[in-house]
Amino acid sequence: MTIPFTNDTLVKDIVNELPKTSDVFKKYRIDFCCGGNIPLHEAASKKAVNLDDVLQELKELYQREIDRTDNLEVWTSSSSSEIINHIKTHYHHPLMEELIQLTPYVLKVSKVHGNHHPELLKVYELFTEFKEEMIEHTEKEEKDIFPLLLKLESMQKENKNKVIAHIQELEKEHDYAGSLLAQLRDVTSDYKLPAEACGTYTLVYKRLEALESETFMHVHLENNILFPRYM
Ligand SMILES: [Fe+2]
Ligand SMILES: [Fe+2]
Repeated sequence: MTIPFTNDTLVKDIVNELPKTSDVFKKYRIDFCCGGNIPLHEAASKKAVNLDDVLQELKELYQREIDRTDNLEVWTSSSSSEIINHIKTHYHHPLMEELIQLTPYVLKVSKVHGNHHPELLKVYELFTEFKEEMIEHTEKEEKDIFPLLLKLESMQKENKNKVIAHIQELEKEHDYAGSLLAQLRDVTSDYKLPAEACGTYTLVYKRLEALESETFMHVHLENNILFPRYM
């Protein structure tokens, strides 16, 4: 596997290519924002960190992202328990991690740039609402609804009706999460960055946009492949 960056690639270009790499740089206290205009090897030596360690982590992160690209067709012929495991591993766990990791960045840009760009205050508000909704929704799926779906075969008819009501409620929550993402897209004018946007600003827009496309795939898998089996 070849990763699209080397020791000589500028730190800011690595973050632009794959915004999630900012977590690795943050861990090693490498500045990817205003000081990101230097090659990776120089940034590593400035912070006296082992270049190979950093590269290895970037490589693993890149591989994980490649593995995550989903062929949805495969799932129509898979068992429900396979789909549920896939949803938990590839969507729920990364989503929970991303919501936590992204929070301080969204807060930071809204505080630092909110005066000149009031839409960033709205971005923070919408992101926080999306985060709270998705944490609660995902917990409900994992703790209550998915186990119910897996038990469904042995159930009486009236219990099956209850499951349908639960699924309809989840679908409504998906619609609401989708409307928050639509509002985020709207207030950011399709994630259009101002010319003077700094690294953190850029990172927030790129990661929010990635969060949107991951959520669309995630919801598609539940709404259109998993849930119709029980309706
Ligand atoms: Fe889910
Ligand atoms: Fe869901």
